Amino acid sequence: MEQYIMKGGNPLVGEVVIGGAKNAALGILAAAIMTDGECLIDNMPDVRDINVLLHAMEGIGARVVRKGPNEVLISGKNIDSGGSLIVDNEYIRKIRASYYLIGALLGKYKKAQVVLPGGCDIGSRPIDQHLKGFRALGAEVKIEHGMIIAEAEALRGNHIYLDVVSVGATINIMMAASMAEGNTIIENAAKEPHIVDVANFLNSMGANIKGAGTDVIRIRGVSRFHNTEYSIIPDQIEAGTFMMAAAATHGDILVKNVIPKHLEAISAKLTEIGAQVEESDDAVRVVATRRLKHTQIKTLPYPGFPTDMQPQMAITLGLSKGTSIITESIFENRFRYVEELRRMGANIKVTDGNTAIITGVEKYTGAIVSTPDLRAGAALVIAGLAAEGYTTVTQIGYILRGYERFDEKLRELGGMIEKVDSEKDANKFRFRTGTAN
Ligand code: EPZ
Repeated sequence: MEQYIMKGGNPLVGEVVIGGAKNAALGILAAAIMTDGECLIDNMPDVRDINVLLHAMEGIGARVVRKGPNEVLISGKNIDSGGSLIVDNEYIRKIRASYYLIGALLGKYKKAQVVLPGGCDIGSRPIDQHLKGFRALGAEVKIEHGMIIAEAEALRGNHIYLDVVSVGATINIMMAASMAEGNTIIENAAKEPHIVDVANFLNSMGANIKGAGTDVIRIRGVSRFHNTEYSIIPDQIEAGTFMMAAAATHGDILVKNVIPKHLEAISAKLTEIGAQVEESDDAVRVVATRRLKHTQIKTLPYPGFPTDMQPQMAITLGLSKGTSIITESIFENRFRYVEELRRMGANIKVTDGNTAIITGVEKYTGAIVSTPDLRAGAALVIAGLAAEGYTTVTQIGYILRGYERFDEKLRELGGMIEKVDSEKDANKFRFRTGTAN
């Protein structure tokens, strides 16, 4: 079984280049099948969730040509619109973003059958707001035999108020509405950078979407999309993860190819706890020369502190002076890593399921820990690199879903980490790093 083994204790120092945003890419790739023309998409992260989605798109007849690890050409021209447009396979069942194919197919072909989404087990993750939106546009939607089945004679624009701020529902409704007849207004829309990126991509194909990035999005439906070339924005969460890696290991990392504005909530908290954060046009440098201090954090939709950065921040606070409090307000099941982190000596208590009380310890000590979900997995790797001795992180399939060349990038920063798939290779790593140090 693939796992990461690492020997911690070295500050991570150097430069890292951030890849394209996974959560923007998932929306953009799905939306690309809405044109019969060709979409050339660049800065695409080469991670497992993306490859699963591309494979599913090929499964319904889309042309997907990999031009390189981070560039792809997509055309929806050969999709069999006379068929039933069923999206299902054992891999797509495990990812969340399969649901974007409903918005894309429903918008273009007025019908879709997509298996109910999986994804990280971080809470109950309902999709009622997506379905409410599709229904408001005139689609008949039912769930049968584990499939979401959506169909419409015609889609008509409408005024849709989201009861909860949802990234997925905002993107999905935006896609379907961009090919509906007439005007749609989405109120209480999510404002994450990837919402703006998907809207920009759709506009580059000929959609008419205004207001993405605010809580009211206005869409004038169009009947056809055309060719486009598009470059995906940098991944805010990958960037934030490396920023925390600098803070937790008392290192100095220049995080390149980022949009500093997207990182403001993370930069502000790092500054507050005593790290030095320097921003330039497309990079941020994080330096932590001494022990950091405690703070209080509540996760919120953008521009608040992202839930996807909560575990990485907790790992940093677990080593900081004093008692910190983190309240998770987006997903109810996002503290499952705490038990693992305790094996490494962390002092964290979770109360009421959504609040972590973290009393900083001087150091973590290496242990065998298991990844409960994508971001928690990345956080445990950082903990391992900050810890004294050897740490093994298992179940790393979760991490590979969303981080491209994670171990390689960490090695380039001086991290002693390797991906191994046998005890023999793990022993080789221990022998090599044990004698070398
Ligand atoms: C997206 O998930 C991301 N996933 C998540 O990334 C991220 O944690 C999350 O947004 C929040 O930023 C993708 O983009 C593929 P939501 P999504 O709909 O769209 C509730 C990662 O590690 N809700 O914004 O599923 C929901 O339960 C991950 O990359 C409803 O009640 O999140 C949650 O409490 C994991 N009904 C809140 O809204 C709905 O119909 C926000 O969820 C939809 C959501």
